[in-house]
Amino acid sequence: MTRDDQAEAPRQSSSAAADEEASCARGLSTCSVHGGEPRVKSEASLTTPIFQTSTYTFQDSAEVVAYNAKELDRWEYGRYGNPTQRATELKLAALEGAEDAFLFPSGMNALTSTLLAIVEAGDHLILAEDCYKNTRRFCELVLGKFGVELSFVRAGDQRALRESLRPNTKVIVAESPTNPHLRVQDLYFLVELARGAGAELLLDSTLATPFNQRPYDFGVRYILHSATKYLNGHQDLMAGALIGGAEQVERVRNFCRPIGGVPDPHQSWLLLRGLKTFAIRMAQHNRNAQYIAEFLHQHPRVARVWYPGLPSHPDHELAKQQMGGFGGLVSFELDGDGQQTLKFVDSLRLWLLGPSLGGVESLVSHPATVSYYDFPPEERERLGIYDNLVRLAVGIEDPQDLVADLDRGLCLA
Ligand SMILES: Cc1ncc(COP(=O)(O)O)c(C=O)c1O
Repeated sequence: MTRDDQAEAPRQSSSAAADEEASCARGLSTCSVHGGEPRVKSEASLTTPIFQTSTYTFQDSAEVVAYNAKELDRWEYGRYGNPTQRATELKLAALEGAEDAFLFPSGMNALTSTLLAIVEAGDHLILAEDCYKNTRRFCELVLGKFGVELSFVRAGDQRALRESLRPNTKVIVAESPTNPHLRVQDLYFLVELARGAGAELLLDSTLATPFNQRPYDFGVRYILHSATKYLNGHQDLMAGALIGGAEQVERVRNFCRPIGGVPDPHQSWLLLRGLKTFAIRMAQHNRNAQYIAEFLHQHPRVARVWYPGLPSHPDHELAKQQMGGFGGLVSFELDGDGQQTLKFVDSLRLWLLGPSLGGVESLVSHPATVSYYDFPPEERERLGIYDNLVRLAVGIEDPQDLVADLDRGLCLA
């Protein structure tokens, strides 16, 4: 069953979200609209309000004492949480079928805070060499400074991953699918490997989203997202999330209390609103990307297409097994040189040139001059970031219009 069907079909959530009333044992569209939110909200408002406050007051000193003794579940101060933020977190947990979630001001903040909460000086950390470049940069610049040992392994190279384990390996950081080649990682393998090594597995599931991949069901307990992307879907905010086991999320939440990165109430509310259309948007991203990948695959000006929904992709079989859909990113290599590729990119009229992904507008990017511009050419070559590589972040427009624009650009290149 594809995620397209699942959006319609009833679905058992793998664990109860904190709010039983709002936990989603229903379809993913229903979960997007209602998940995580109580049926009756403040002042009988239909939508969850924005609690635009930094401070909450107590009736009297006895209430303060009860709160300190953890006898009262209530709000105290904005850095420790906010009702709008909490509703968003519970919706994210419900969508992922996980126990809990914690919201951050950006995806990088989610990733860096989670890593800082887990690692100590002298620990060893393994990550994929083509992981998101700022994840790599953070590990090298910050964790390296504090004596954390790092190993970089080619994504999907299970033997290299096994051989890179050390007695002090504390964390394995993985992304699935990867960007821009959409390589899919075997989640059962990663979970077992981490378990056997006594290490934590952190999975950046941004590109898949809970619509296409449910890492919690595979045993992943630290699932990270840049909510800036598909979860919000409108390219109008930055946010990040850690979703997973209650114990793991609580560990990071406690660590973050004195750290100070806080999503503001309005940002939380915008994400909550964006999530209402999450399932319906994702179904269209998937459909459009598959349509475009198939169009590119047969185009005479295209040398190679990278899309896990195509049988020609090296991870197609694995993707079929562990994903409900193949996502909204498509990369391809033009049958031409770098100049011709830039000419193609510049000739597009509907696709907009820009970084990022996951929004309703279709974006085109040339990885060699956008995200990898500061890599030495030989490093780009090694990672497969060739000058003729194009990345498409497919939006939710009519696929025929998107294809017509691509076709015109390819003929001009
Ligand atoms: C896979 C992945 N993870 C994490 C991030 C960081 O997220 P943010 O930009 O929300 O900080 C990005 C951003 O592009 C990303 O692509």
